[in-house]
Amino acid sequence: MKIVDIVGARPQFIKITTVLRAIQRYNQAHPENRIQEVLVHTGQHYDYEMSGVFFDELGLKPPDYHLGVGSGTHGYQTGEMIKRVEEVLLAEKPDLVIVYGDTNSTLAGALAAVKLHIPVAHVEAGLRSFNKRMPEEINRILTDHVSDLLFCPTPTAVENLRREGITKGVYLVGDVMYDAVLQYLALAEQKSRILERLGLRPESYAVATVHRAENTDNPNRLRAIFDGLEAVAQAGLPVVLPLHPRTRKQAESLGLSLKGVRVLEPVSYLDMLLLEKNARLIITDSGGVQKEAFFFRVPCVTLREETEWVETVETGWNVLVGCDPKRIRSAALLAQPGAESACPYGDGRAGEKILEALKELHREVRE
Ligand code: UD1
Ligand code: UDP
Repeated sequence: MKIVDIVGARPQFIKITTVLRAIQRYNQAHPENRIQEVLVHTGQHYDYEMSGVFFDELGLKPPDYHLGVGSGTHGYQTGEMIKRVEEVLLAEKPDLVIVYGDTNSTLAGALAAVKLHIPVAHVEAGLRSFNKRMPEEINRILTDHVSDLLFCPTPTAVENLRREGITKGVYLVGDVMYDAVLQYLALAEQKSRILERLGLRPESYAVATVHRAENTDNPNRLRAIFDGLEAVAQAGLPVVLPLHPRTRKQAESLGLSLKGVRVLEPVSYLDMLLLEKNARLIITDSGGVQKEAFFFRVPCVTLREETEWVETVETGWNVLVGCDPKRIRSAALLAQPGAESACPYGDGRAGEKILEALKELHREVRE
């Protein structure tokens, strides 16, 4: 069986490590009956800090195809990706295409494949924020509705799909990013010197990230969020902010500054894991970072009105505050640990469970 894996944006380089590791293990155990895997990078993210560093640090093989699409409007970016992924699929003729998460690379990969009648597997299926103004929500809904295998991280995700009439090909496997944290934390502890480099003591600072379009593309919201982060720092909790290039560009064009906040280039995954694990608090609008806060049981303040990762809120580890500076400040200063509950994101074996489903398909392809 031949699989084409499609990635392009930062969180996808992390998610794919879980699936590639499972396939690698299978291939080592079955050298006579390998699953062939072709890696496609759309080029959605291209700065070294947003892409190359993950390949170098996590030991990912270089992509078999790099499509170099880069940035642009949704129509341009998604359209170019569909065209270029289609060419790869026509040349490679895979038995399955796997897409990850909810970016434009996810939707483009799924659409290119399904139109060529190639089965699609969606890793992180069934997530819903119920806010269709988010580009990610559109990407999730459309991708789920053309997928044949839907790998869900949580029972909530399975239920979301059921409500939309999708019950076939649905697998509850757990969260691939949880597997990744369990896999890479020891390496991070061993290799990362980020705390020493920044002179940070454990549990004495907050780490923040901001990049979501609804926050960055609305000047009032971005200004309010920056005011909120400044207020947290002024209240005595130092804030470290590895800044997404989208946000940096927008802040520069608006002439926004961040007094008292430590602004960094985006950091590597291993550095990010250590920054998160040792933080007193995490402030973010990222999906992945909200989950990682929960995995490390660090209280999280989310700069959004809703979240698709509802379990983090239900267990009391995450609070949604939107962009109001006063709410950001008070939530940050009052943040408390949530409940000690079982992990709703699986048992760290999502990769193996995905592999089980892939093996079934592998058998069918050979018969
Ligand atoms: C994308 C995803 C979002 C995901 C995020 C992960 C979509 C619609 N959005 O958002 O769901 O949470 O990735 O980080 O797919 N830029 C650079 N260098 C880079 C990449 C981007 O400078 O390497 C700048 C460009 O100005 C670009 C902007 O960031 O226009 C936005 O990049 P884009 O990939 O379109 O969306 P993200 O905000 O990164
Ligand atoms: N991340 C990272 N460096 C950073 C910021 C985030 O390695 O400077 C990692 C983070 O640990 C998580 C993933 O990137 O694993 C989340 O990606 P992002 O916030 O870009 O996207 P989202 O999850 O919101 O789609």
